Amino acid sequence: MNFDLTINKIDTLEANLELIIVVDKNLDHRFVKDKDLLEKVGFKGEQDEVCLLIERDRLYVGIDSIGSVTTRTAIASAIRALKSTTYKSLKIASYMNHPKCTAVIRAMVEGFILGSYSFNKYKSNKTKPNIKDILISLEDYRDYELNIEACANALNRGQILAEATNFTRDIVNTTPDDCYPQIMANIAKKLAKENKLECKILKPKELKKEKMEAFLAVARASRHKPRVIHISYKPKNPIAVVSLIGKGLTYDSGGLSLKPADFMVTMKSDKSGGSAVLGIMKSVSEMNLPIEVHGFIGAVENMIGGDAYKPDDVLVAKNGKTIEIRNTDAEGRLVLADTLCYAQQEVKADYIFDFATLTGASVVGVGHYTSSIMGNSDEVKDRVIKGAKIAGEFATKLDFNRYLKKSLKSEIADICNISNTRYGGAITAGQFLEEFIEEENKDKWVHIDIAGPAFVEHSWGENPHGASGAGVRLMSRVLEGLIRATK
Ligand code: BES
Ligand code: ZN
Ligand code: ZN
Repeated sequence: MNFDLTINKIDTLEANLELIIVVDKNLDHRFVKDKDLLEKVGFKGEQDEVCLLIERDRLYVGIDSIGSVTTRTAIASAIRALKSTTYKSLKIASYMNHPKCTAVIRAMVEGFILGSYSFNKYKSNKTKPNIKDILISLEDYRDYELNIEACANALNRGQILAEATNFTRDIVNTTPDDCYPQIMANIAKKLAKENKLECKILKPKELKKEKMEAFLAVARASRHKPRVIHISYKPKNPIAVVSLIGKGLTYDSGGLSLKPADFMVTMKSDKSGGSAVLGIMKSVSEMNLPIEVHGFIGAVENMIGGDAYKPDDVLVAKNGKTIEIRNTDAEGRLVLADTLCYAQQEVKADYIFDFATLTGASVVGVGHYTSSIMGNSDEVKDRVIKGAKIAGEFATKLDFNRYLKKSLKSEIADICNISNTRYGGAITAGQFLEEFIEEENKDKWVHIDIAGPAFVEHSWGENPHGASGAGVRLMSRVLEGLIRATK
C-alpha cells in the first residue's frame, strides 16, 4: 500500500473511490455528500458501520467521536468491506479539528494496513487487497496551524508499526510443521540482515554450556532442536537499554501432561511472545529509535515421546534453582526462566519486558482481548498500560501477592512448576518467573501475558481471525514513551 499526504482539496483528487468518515452520526457535515441516500438505506453512522454506495464510488464509515482508537477500527472495517471489489485507489479527507490530529492520521494508516491483512499461505486462491494507493487530504490544515512534517512522520510510523504487526501475525499463523525453532532462527537472521541488526543463535550445545537445563528438558522430546535467539539493535548514544524476552513455543502439545484435543488446536500460537519480540525489533529499528533494544527468544517445541521430561522430574535452572515438575504443560515458565537468566547475564538493561502466551488462566480472568500485566514496579507497569491504550491494545494489571506465592512451594525442590490451587493461575505463573529475576532487576521487569489477545478465532476491531500481533504496537509505544520521558 502506498500512502500520500496532500493539502489539496479532496474534491480535486483523482481516485477510484472516496472514503468518508461520519462522526457522531452527523450526516450534515460537508464531507457527507449523500445524506438522502444514506438515510434511505438506513445508514446511521454507528461506530464501525459501513455503507458502500457503489454507483457513487463512495464508502461511508461511522465513528463515535474523533480519536485514534475509533478511527483505527473504523478504517479497518471499511477496508474489509472492499475485499471483493476492484477499486485500486482511494481518497480520504482527514478531520483536522482534533488536538491530536497527527495521532489520528497515524491510526488511520494503521487501520488501512492492519485491516487489509489476510493470511493466504495455505489457500489455493490467494486474495490480495486491491487498493494500492491511498491519498489523504489535509485540506483544512490552514485553520489548525498544522505541521505537515509532523503529519508525514505520523504516517510513516503508522506504516512501520502496522507492517511489523502483520509480520508478527504471519509468523504466528504459520503451522508448526513450517515454523519450528530453526525456522524462527532463520526469520530472525533474515530480519537482522535486512535491518542491520546483530543476531546470535544458540544451538543445543551452547545451551548446555549455558546450563539452561530447564529449557533443554522442555525441548527434549521434539525432533526439532531448540534455539535461543539473541537479536539486538544498537543505535549510537542510546538513552536507555531495554531487553525483551519472548516465549517461542513453536508448538505446545502439553507434553506428557497432554492437552485435551480441543485445547491443543491453536497451540501453534504459543510462539506469539517470541514472534512479537521479532516484530518489535523490526519496528524499533525502522523507526530509528534512540534506544538499545535486545530481543531474546526461547524457541522450542513441547512434545511427547520416550525422551520426554516428566511430571516428578526435578530440573536445575540456569540460576541454580531446582524446580519440581508436576505438569509438563506448564512449560512456558521453564523456557522463560532460563531465557530470562540468560538475558540478564548478557545485558545490563534499564528495563526488562517478557511476552508470553503463558496461561489459560489469564484468558479466563481477563478475557480474550486483554493482556495481563504483572511485576513489582507500578511505574513500569503503568508505562505498559499507557502504551497499550495509545496503541489500541487492551491491558490490565494483575497484582502479585505473598499469599498466592506460597502455593508454589515444593516439598522436594526449591519451587514447583505449578501452583497447588486452581485459582489465580496467571499471577502464580508471573510469581514463578519472578524467582528468576535478579534482585537488582526486580523493579525493572514487567511480565506481559498475551494468552488472551495473541490468537483469537474471530476477527475483532482491526484484528483478523487468528494471530493479532499483540504486543508489537503496545511495546513500540512504550519505547516511544521512554524517549518522550527523557527529553
Ligand atoms: N500455552 C499454554 C497457555 C495458553 C492457554 C495459551 C490457552 C493460550 C491459550 C501454557 O503453556 C499452558 O498450557 N499453561 C497451563 C498451565 C497449567 C498447567 C498450570 C494452563 O494455562 O492451563
Ligand atoms: Zn503448556
Ligand atoms: Zn505453552
